[in-house]
Amino acid sequence: MPFLSGEELDKVYKEAKRNQYAFPANNFADFNLLQGFLDGAEAVNADCVVQLSNGACKFLGRDDMKRGLRIGSNMVQELAESYSIGVALNLDHTRKDKTDFLRYAADQGLATSVMIDASDLPFEDNLAATKEVTKFAHDAGLLVEAELGKVLGEEDHIVAEDTGDDVYTDPRQAVEFIRQTDADLLAVCIGTNHGVSKGKDMPLRVDVMTACNEAMKKAGLECYFVLHGGSGVDPERIQLCIQQGVVKINKDTEYQFVWTQAMVGHYDEIRDSAIHPDGGPSPLAGRGDWSPDKKRFDPRPALKHGRGVIAKRTQDMIREGGSDGKSLFAKKVTA
Ligand code: G3H
Ligand code: CA
Repeated sequence: MPFLSGEELDKVYKEAKRNQYAFPANNFADFNLLQGFLDGAEAVNADCVVQLSNGACKFLGRDDMKRGLRIGSNMVQELAESYSIGVALNLDHTRKDKTDFLRYAADQGLATSVMIDASDLPFEDNLAATKEVTKFAHDAGLLVEAELGKVLGEEDHIVAEDTGDDVYTDPRQAVEFIRQTDADLLAVCIGTNHGVSKGKDMPLRVDVMTACNEAMKKAGLECYFVLHGGSGVDPERIQLCIQQGVVKINKDTEYQFVWTQAMVGHYDEIRDSAIHPDGGPSPLAGRGDWSPDKKRFDPRPALKHGRGVIAKRTQDMIREGGSDGKSLFAKKVTA
């Protein structure tokens, strides 16, 4: 199925909100993680949202974010053609000083949706930055995600610190924000953080999500909610958030951890095919008498193993959010 447009992704989210299910939105910075996500989504017939952070774009583009975006987006768009599900690409957290990057993505058709995160700025400045992005992104047919409140912790070297009351999203501000910006998705902050510990440093408050949902309904506004810092949040809270209009659950840390565990396990197993038992000389160029099995130290079996583990975990996440079996774009892939 071709790469989804903003309009198509809007249909996906609308259906999810109406029927109370959500999609994991997974960050990737290389081909194998990406393919693992898509394999997992296809296996359970779910449309799939993948994300590129600014840091991932730098990583892919040798520090040139636009080049990295072209590389990442082309990988997604080419791969999407070979899958029987809809595939969307979101650009994760981009700060106000990098809005030209989002403009470039919109002009070049390199993403399905973009996130402007000006939540570190005062409310009025967040409004202004989000309005600007919404204008050009909507003109180009992309959806826009914004954030109010703070997801604490560090992601891609962007650190959000607890400065007091402004951590949790204020429902009245959320209404005003959506009314004025016309953003499609809002990251509501309920006390999650980016990284490994959830609910350790501050209480997770699903009631904030409920209050925001009630306030939106009362104001007659439509908006999809997003839960950032989704790794490690318990399934009960995930369900409660979905009932309050969350359609997208951002995950990054969990996949990084699962991938690394898979790699460590694999390389432990083939250690004797990569390291000389006595620390002796390399067998290459005729040196030494040691001849390890080339099939075992070829990187591809390791990467394939990693993809498989990621695909399996992706299926679990999809089932947890309930989007399995619900692809709106499932069809037979043409060769
Ligand atoms: O945008 C990415 C996610 O919010 C990352 O959250 O660290 O809990 O995986 P996580
Ligand atoms: Ca995030």
